[in-house]
Amino acid sequence: TAKSNTVAQAAGKKYFGSATDNPEFTDAAYLAILSDNTYFGQITPGNSMKWDATEPEQGTFTFSGGDAVVSLAQGNSQLVRGHNCVWYNQLPSWVTSGSWTNATLTAAVQNHCSTLVSHYKGDIWDIINEPFNDDGTWRSDVFYNTMGTYFVDVALIAARAADPNAKLYINDYNIEGTGAKATAMMNLVSNLKSRGIPIDGVGLQGHFIVGEVPTTIQTVMEQFVALGVEVAITELDIRMTLPETDALLEQQKTDYQNVITACNAVAGCVGVTIWDYSEPLTMLTQYSWVPSTFSGQGAACPWDANLIKKPAYDGIIAGFSA
Ligand code: G3I
Repeated sequence: TAKSNTVAQAAGKKYFGSATDNPEFTDAAYLAILSDNTYFGQITPGNSMKWDATEPEQGTFTFSGGDAVVSLAQGNSQLVRGHNCVWYNQLPSWVTSGSWTNATLTAAVQNHCSTLVSHYKGDIWDIINEPFNDDGTWRSDVFYNTMGTYFVDVALIAARAADPNAKLYINDYNIEGTGAKATAMMNLVSNLKSRGIPIDGVGLQGHFIVGEVPTTIQTVMEQFVALGVEVAITELDIRMTLPETDALLEQQKTDYQNVITACNAVAGCVGVTIWDYSEPLTMLTQYSWVPSTFSGQGAACPWDANLIKKPAYDGIIAGFSA
């Protein structure tokens, strides 16, 4: 049978990848498939490069979790997507409850991004994660509330200086279809470009519900690419209300295929990453995030709980083959 990364690369994409993280590496059967670079040419650590994991106290960096992900990827000749530098969630308390001024938080953001991107030199980075509310306004978090939109500049400039070769992204959800949030992201990209702030790509996360993939996803990708950035689907999963039925699995196959087909049709869409590839339902938190986050929902990944490929996998292959 066709292999997802092989097919993606044959279609001219850089990679087909998956999220993963350290707790899963003890599962030999899971690890064997993850490590097969004909399936996955890229991995993203789901948690281990986040701020709470990497700088739990100001100025004290812990790289061990992320290092294990990088070393696995290097052993398998896979790309790494760093995830992420600046996000409102999974912050250590010294960040969320510090008494910051613009100057002191600027220094902290600079130091965090610079140290992280310099340590994990290489491939791709989600520098800014989820800056917008769904209505396109800026998210009210410690960064925006202290620094205004300037936090985006600070993080991107620090990252570019730390690793001139890394592709620097802003990553968000609910920007995969036309609407206020996608427009806000386009305005941000235009603004950054006009001021010469480094920005290479926009990540469309792609956390979808079966039957609800936006029909304008290709249009939106084309609109971003027209601004002079690349795009990628960075966190694709398509969840359903359990139990699985044949009809839901078929719709999910169509949905995966539609997302991949859209990326395939846009030259500036460089790759697709799924937000983990399987979902053992008895071990909720360490694989897919869906079952532990959305009560009664799951089965969002292309491989099932027994690591068997689902119809969704065939949809992925078909999408890259179109
Ligand atoms: O590390 C602690 C552990 O010590 C503790 O025993 C356990 C008990 O709940 O929690 C562990 O932390 C969990 C962490 O994942 C690591 O497993 C958190 O509770 C849990 O909330 C956290 O969930 C992560 C979530 O981001 C947090 O927002 C998911 O694994 C991760 O897949 C998810 O990823 C995000 C992307 O970064 C951004 N886009 C959305 C995506 C899905 O939410």
